[in-house]
Amino acid sequence: MNKMLPFSKPSIGTREVQEVFKTLTSGWLTTGKKVNLFETKFAEWVGARFAVATSSATAALHISLQALGIGEKDEIMTPSFTFISTVNIITLLGAKPIFVDIHPETWNLDESLIEKKITSKTKAIIPMHYAGRACQMKPIYEVAKKYGLKVIDDAAHALGTYDDGKHIGSGSDLAIYSFHPNKNITTGEGGMIVSNDEAFIEKLRPYAFHGILREAWKRTQAKHLAYDVEAPGFKYNMMDLQASLGLHQLDRLPVFLKKRKRLSRLYERFLKNDPNLLLQEGGEWGNHSRNLFPVVLKTERIQKSREEIMEALKQENISVGVHWPAAHTCTYYRENLKNKDKLPHTEYVASRVISLPLFPDLKATEVNRVCKTLKKIVGSVSRERVA
Ligand SMILES: Cc1ncc(COP(=O)(O)O)c(C=O)c1O
Repeated sequence: MNKMLPFSKPSIGTREVQEVFKTLTSGWLTTGKKVNLFETKFAEWVGARFAVATSSATAALHISLQALGIGEKDEIMTPSFTFISTVNIITLLGAKPIFVDIHPETWNLDESLIEKKITSKTKAIIPMHYAGRACQMKPIYEVAKKYGLKVIDDAAHALGTYDDGKHIGSGSDLAIYSFHPNKNITTGEGGMIVSNDEAFIEKLRPYAFHGILREAWKRTQAKHLAYDVEAPGFKYNMMDLQASLGLHQLDRLPVFLKKRKRLSRLYERFLKNDPNLLLQEGGEWGNHSRNLFPVVLKTERIQKSREEIMEALKQENISVGVHWPAAHTCTYYRENLKNKDKLPHTEYVASRVISLPLFPDLKATEVNRVCKTLKKIVGSVSRERVA
């Protein structure tokens, strides 16, 4: 019997391990020089002027919306087919998520539907680049400019994704990234905010650390450690321990991306023409960082539920993920938000999608095994061979 194949697995090299060890024995574990260097290198990678490291992408979004002054009665546009953290943060701040349906091919929010949903309360758009596939940013920027809205990329999957030759997030008001272990690079847990707006970054940074203004106590020329707080903040800082991983993961990102893309092309070759499956439109080499390899199971044809198919894969020692149920169908939002907008593509994809194993150290033979097993389970005949 084959060993259990995980759906995701971080690739941690000896340089990461050595750097973490050095940090552990250095006497300085929390936010310090390594976080600072990671922020600088990350901003360079993305092509943005500034970066602020946080304890997660959820924390990054929380303080970003806080610094933008989002609150009661504001409306924020986002797909319902997104990770629940975005919808939770909007809601916890007292604002209202307004859901835009997804495009039937890319499974990203459909840019053409945004303008119709804008009201006098709309403050921002949060495009999420699903699985690493770039949204088309030009029409989003145009509509945002026309109505004075902020564009905040949820680029949790999109490190290494380009649209129109520019890295996702570099041309927006701000962008957030995640370093959870199933993302394109990991710091264990962690997140980052990038922006080109210096005033915004200055306002935002203290929110990650209790609202403490580090510069203020310097200005008062206090001899001992003192601080000032102009607005209460959170405890969302990244540690040097985490940045020790991130620095080397970032160096290895080009190799990770190449492997993810090659493996995804293999999946596509094998699964593309299967009448029981629907694949996300892959686009060009550069505009999809391939953080996930999602597949829609056409359960209306297969005559098996998604749960049955997932269970059958598990019996064959293949683990898969579900990214994600549509937010408006989760109990809290169904009962409290009472969304009346029609989201047919969201509901179709979200109720049928699974994510197949994909990570840099996955082998071509393992992709082959996953495809053959999936085809057998969904009742498709396998004629091709991969690798
Ligand atoms: C699209 C998306 N946005 C945001 C997040 C939140 O990231 P984090 O776990 O770093 O808070 C995730 C996490 O999986 C995600 O997939």
